Amino acid sequence: TRGDLPTIDPLRIVAKEMKFLTGNIRKLLGSGHPSLDRAAKYYTQAEGKHVRPLIVLLMSRATSLCPKTPQRQQATIQASAAIDTSLSPLSVLSDFNPSATAESESIISTDPDILPSQRRLAEITELIHTASLLHDDVIDHSEARRGSPSANLEFGNKMAVLAGDFLLGRASVALARLRHAEVIELLATVIANLVEGEFMQLKNTARDEKNPQWSEETLTYYLQKTYLKTASLISKSCRASALLGGADAATVDAAYLYGKNLGLAFQLVDDMLDYTRSGQELGKPAGADLELGLATAPLLFAWKTMPELGSLVGRKFEKEGDVARARDLVMQSDGIQQTRALAEDYAEQAIAAISGFPDSEAKDGLIEMAVKTLERKK
Ligand code: FPP
Ligand code: MG
Ligand code: MG
Repeated sequence: TRGDLPTIDPLRIVAKEMKFLTGNIRKLLGSGHPSLDRAAKYYTQAEGKHVRPLIVLLMSRATSLCPKTPQRQQATIQASAAIDTSLSPLSVLSDFNPSATAESESIISTDPDILPSQRRLAEITELIHTASLLHDDVIDHSEARRGSPSANLEFGNKMAVLAGDFLLGRASVALARLRHAEVIELLATVIANLVEGEFMQLKNTARDEKNPQWSEETLTYYLQKTYLKTASLISKSCRASALLGGADAATVDAAYLYGKNLGLAFQLVDDMLDYTRSGQELGKPAGADLELGLATAPLLFAWKTMPELGSLVGRKFEKEGDVARARDLVMQSDGIQQTRALAEDYAEQAIAAISGFPDSEAKDGLIEMAVKTLERKK
């Protein structure tokens, strides 16, 4: 509970870094091919929430005050010095210019607590996230994103998929330029995890059955899927941020745990909002999950006490009237309250994970992010 404490704005703490985020990302996405350039940058136009970069930057500052790994201290300084942060705009279908000049320098050093490599990591997380949205909107046949037509609607499926691939390619180049093998491995794993999560989501339950029964495994499967699809990016980028700063092993693990629990809370709230908010409020279609055949947390909790949901889950709410019936049953159950309670649990665990960090504004910002995750309306 927040009591009467004045609320702090996490964004203000890293505002200087966030200010350059979209511009830097757009530079990373430059292509001489005009329509690729347009499709690739499309989702950078409407202001997103930039949750992931914000968390990475806060984590970078918060962990800068934590103990360092002795061997790493030196390595970090060397690595930071070696990073080529100049990702110049590209000419037609060319490679990155390896001898980019100072004029194309896209990173302006502001906060000494945040390394250039950590700022670049923040941009890479947003790139990977945006790539996943481009692909996700194709898979989900989504027509709106951030209050505007989706990329697939605007450019067609082919270009939207290719634009997503292009983002992943550019994210990979930027990642390689960090020259930190463990960080590269972490973020490459995230990309694979996103696909694994999406594959798990193609099925609602571990086993393919016509009339599945609720079991504890139902929730385990959902949480594993949720980790892969949402929490993997947040947790592994938090871990990477601590690693780039040369933090010791305990700090790196704490950063990871914060991200993992926050990511799970974040997606649980997302799945709850799909039931409770209108499309207008969300800026994307509401009630979309059932229409897509997805059984998320509110329904899974309802199913526990309402076995008749099993056959609907088994046929992915495909029969006429299934979606409305399922929605009614969820609303009659305490599924939404249970989802909220679980999200609160994870948010608390996220806060607990970083309780050992020295007090700082950035640490307060991370705590506030966990609180805000529960309060968010879209
Ligand atoms: C949004 O979920 C989607 C994700 C969090 C990940 C989607 C992952 C893929 C499509 C895998 C392949 C992509 C890449 C780039 C590796 P949602 O549909 O629940 O959210 P929404 O309501 O915002 O659409
Ligand atoms: Mg979607
Ligand atoms: Mg989806």
